[in-house]
Amino acid sequence: MIPLDKMKRVEIFCGTGGVGKTTISASRALFLAKNKKVLLITIDPSKRLKQVLGIDESLSGKLNKVELDAESKGHLDCLLLSPKTSFERLIGTENKNNIIETLSKPYGGMNEIAAIIELHYWFNKKEHDFIILDTPPGHHFIDFLEATKKINAFFDKTFADIFIHLGKEKGSKGIIGKLINTGIDKLLSLLESVTGENFVGEFTSAVHILYTNREKFIEAINIDKILLSSENSNWFLVSSLDQLKSKDADDMLHAINNFRKGDSYLVMNKSWAEHLSNWNPQSHGQQMLKEKLESGEREISDISKQNNVLLLKFPEIFSEDPFQQVKELISNWEVPEVTND
Ligand SMILES: Nc1ncnc2c1ncn2[C@@H]1O[C@H](COP(=O)(O)OP(=O)(O)OP(=O)(O)O)[C@@H](O)[C@H]1O
Ligand SMILES: [Mg+2]
Repeated sequence: MIPLDKMKRVEIFCGTGGVGKTTISASRALFLAKNKKVLLITIDPSKRLKQVLGIDESLSGKLNKVELDAESKGHLDCLLLSPKTSFERLIGTENKNNIIETLSKPYGGMNEIAAIIELHYWFNKKEHDFIILDTPPGHHFIDFLEATKKINAFFDKTFADIFIHLGKEKGSKGIIGKLINTGIDKLLSLLESVTGENFVGEFTSAVHILYTNREKFIEAINIDKILLSSENSNWFLVSSLDQLKSKDADDMLHAINNFRKGDSYLVMNKSWAEHLSNWNPQSHGQQMLKEKLESGEREISDISKQNNVLLLKFPEIFSEDPFQQVKELISNWEVPEVTND
């Protein structure tokens, strides 16, 4: 149970691939929606979970209202992360460009920036009491936050001015000829000979679009106040016993603690603790399995102690149905966290 005085408007769930970020964050959103207005920003939920959350993919980027059970007095909106829609939020729909479109495909590597754009947008709209963010798998989201300075540099004026000049003349054969003595000209002319003129035109136009919208990008990625301050956000690092990579979990917790001071939690998902206590295996093989599971649990507990963060345990659910798993996990948010005393 996260005490009331430790609740923040934004809760971020991160972790490596397949550990249960989407499952745990959905259970958290449904738990809070019992009496609060909640927005769940999620990425790539399983088909069944998508159905139950009422996510209509054709509406991705828009809020989908989730039907809650009769006891829930709150409200839950769910937003399926879509880099394309997030980009359009900033640069509009009139700026068509093939490169930006390719980058905005679900696997174009823009999920992190889309998550930030949406968080920034909905945080400032103030329509919800809580925003739960389910992040793309891996270290990328944390790296991305640490890289915001580099993104600012990308928009550096000198760099962009060159492209703005080229961008104005996109498509015209003359662009290369005009800057005959510069290094960039050589580079572009080389690119042109390899890729054809269309690509160079598309490229300069993509940079032009990004440059002319730079203020909006910079504002959206300027999220330090929301994400990095313990005043506004709680971080949950999800780790899972079935694919324990304790080094990854340790590294990520370190990274989180490095750039923010304040509350973060380590989630041990697919925990066997409650099943193990009543299990007295007779065969050697089963005893070995029990020991292995127990040492995995200990490893995660140790990580929480070493990093001085509280541990939240979520059991392995035996149902195969992703929504049933989420439903059964909701009540775990009422269980007290493990303290490190
Ligand atoms: N506590 C649990 N008990 C049993 N199965 C679980 C539990 N948590 C998650 N799962 C299952 O594990 C798989 C991965 O879960 P999920 O999709 O939530 O992980 P993820 O971290 O969001 O993955 P990705 O990195 O691909 O986004 C799914 O099949 C899910 O149904
Ligand atoms: Mg997921």
